[in-house]
Amino acid sequence: MPHSPLLDGLSVRPFESADKDHVRDIIVAAFGQEAEANLVRKLRHCGALVLEQVAVGEDGAILGHIAFSRATPAAIGAGQGLHVTCLAPMSVRPAYQKQGIGGALIHSSLARLRETGEDLVLVLGPPTYYPRFGFDAELATKISGPYAGAAFMAMALTEAGKRDLPIEVAFPTPFEEFE
Ligand SMILES: CC(C)(COP(=O)(O)OP(=O)(O)OC[C@H]1O[C@@H](n2cnc3c(N)ncnc32)[C@H](O)[C@@H]1OP(=O)(O)O)[C@@H](O)C(=O)NCCC(=O)NCCS
Repeated sequence: MPHSPLLDGLSVRPFESADKDHVRDIIVAAFGQEAEANLVRKLRHCGALVLEQVAVGEDGAILGHIAFSRATPAAIGAGQGLHVTCLAPMSVRPAYQKQGIGGALIHSSLARLRETGEDLVLVLGPPTYYPRFGFDAELATKISGPYAGAAFMAMALTEAGKRDLPIEVAFPTPFEEFE
């Protein structure tokens, strides 16, 4: 992808409560429906979000959003101590897509998740998009739960995240609507 000048002025920062309405607008615009915005609201409400970040343009406008929630390993085997998180959803304002904002949100978030000791990141999304960041459907076959198949991918951020598998994970209740 050619380098977009937009990226030079772009920054990624943690979500703040004053961003709430802008973020909702972006999620609804990106997905063309309200379901994913409602998912984020419910995840926030039940305290399931581990990390939420926004991408901000040079003028301070929010152009993208990403959310990660807690996934809980079942209390069996070595993997029960793993810190597992799930990326969903990610949205970029439609007029600004395909310029690297999604990539910037993912790279910045993975760095933060590493710093905070997360072992494993899961994602359910396009198999043509997420592997470029290191997400792997093969690794995800070792993680059982409600999701499976080529769209279900995983990335280990620590040695334990690769080693202490297979595991079974449960997702926060608001994800039930998406099964
Ligand atoms: C997915 C999304 C967040 C990516 O953001 P972005 O800023 O456009 O991403 P980047 O600029 O970093 O990367 C662009 C690449 O992603 C690809 N891509 C974007 N959306 C895609 C999708 N739904 N399926 C497959 N590939 C996709 C583009 O084709 C492009 O590929 P290329 O580099 O090979 O040309 C954005 O397109 C979006 O908001 N889409 C609607 C919501 C959505 O589907 N979210 C993902 C599921 S959680």
